[in-house]
Amino acid sequence: MPNEGSYEVALERSERIRTDLPEHPERYTMLTGDRPTGRLHLGHYFGTLQNRVELQNMGVHTNVLIADYQVITDRDTTEHIRDNVYNMVMDYLACGLDPDKTMIYTHSSVPAANQLMLPFLSLVSEAELSRNPTVKAEMEASGHELTGLLLTYPVHQACDILFCKGNVVPVGRDQLPHIELTRTIARKFNKRYCKDTKPVFPMVNALLSDTPLLPGLDGRKMSKSYGNAISISMTPEETAERIKKSQTDGERMITFDPENRPGVSGLLSTAAICTGRSEVEIAEEIGMSGSGALKKYVTEAVNNRFAEIRERRHVYENDLDYVKDVLAEGNRRANEIAEATLAEVCEAMGMTY
Ligand code: TRP
Repeated sequence: MPNEGSYEVALERSERIRTDLPEHPERYTMLTGDRPTGRLHLGHYFGTLQNRVELQNMGVHTNVLIADYQVITDRDTTEHIRDNVYNMVMDYLACGLDPDKTMIYTHSSVPAANQLMLPFLSLVSEAELSRNPTVKAEMEASGHELTGLLLTYPVHQACDILFCKGNVVPVGRDQLPHIELTRTIARKFNKRYCKDTKPVFPMVNALLSDTPLLPGLDGRKMSKSYGNAISISMTPEETAERIKKSQTDGERMITFDPENRPGVSGLLSTAAICTGRSEVEIAEEIGMSGSGALKKYVTEAVNNRFAEIRERRHVYENDLDYVKDVLAEGNRRANEIAEATLAEVCEAMGMTY
């Protein structure tokens, strides 16, 4: 039998929920979020934003968090943070998140949610925290020392999920250790403090994406730091420029071969996801016309696919007051929910004076 924490088990749970979601959307509260370190890109859009909008429109309770405190887990600066946060709200709205249905908030603005950190920290051991593979990978990738926050931010992420009693968390595979930790914390809290009463926290499940990860223009993982990403907020000209500068190879004939031709194949995958066609079909159509023709095709595919979203985004770019209002209202609601949950937590712990 596979062990409880394994990928297979999480995947099975995720699949079960995926089938149940359209049937009983009202049973689910989704919480997920992003670190405001820059603009959202096509990888975010196809990997998760589209899915959030779908869940929202299905009638699931949807909450989207801008994880500003997580920015300082592996960086020593909060430069541009406000600008990044407002731009993230613009990206969300442009992509179809509706603030009347989806609560959009910044976790630094919700003191009661952050206060859950104290009881939650008492429910995890140092050993459990130290063996988290995602924290280790982030530490290595950033070259940052293991600060107290980097070590314990997965507990803070449990606060994010549990303050609103989230029970589905759409995430990539790298986030599974954090979801496991959240489950452990919820289980332990309920067991320790809700012996004779209704459990305070729900069982949390990851909703694993079933769409393959969109590679960057060079075939590597799409990342702002590699310069291989197209942001949702780019203009058509910036998009053309980014694609034009991407590295292909000397072979004229266009073929889809991710292993041996990462550049050409990354371009084909981008065109495929934007047009709904297959990579092979597009490659065959372009054939001997070479990478110039391919780049032209990809540019048009991206610019057509995102024309409407970008047009909507311009409206928000020109109405920062509205963007600030959306966030203020999300934060107000988040505080209401967090205070109610913290009250339940204090009650369960007998800390009411
Ligand atoms: N750690 C996530 C990331 O790096 C962002 C995040 C913060 C998050 N809190 C969360 C995701 C809670 C899901 C649930 O992308």
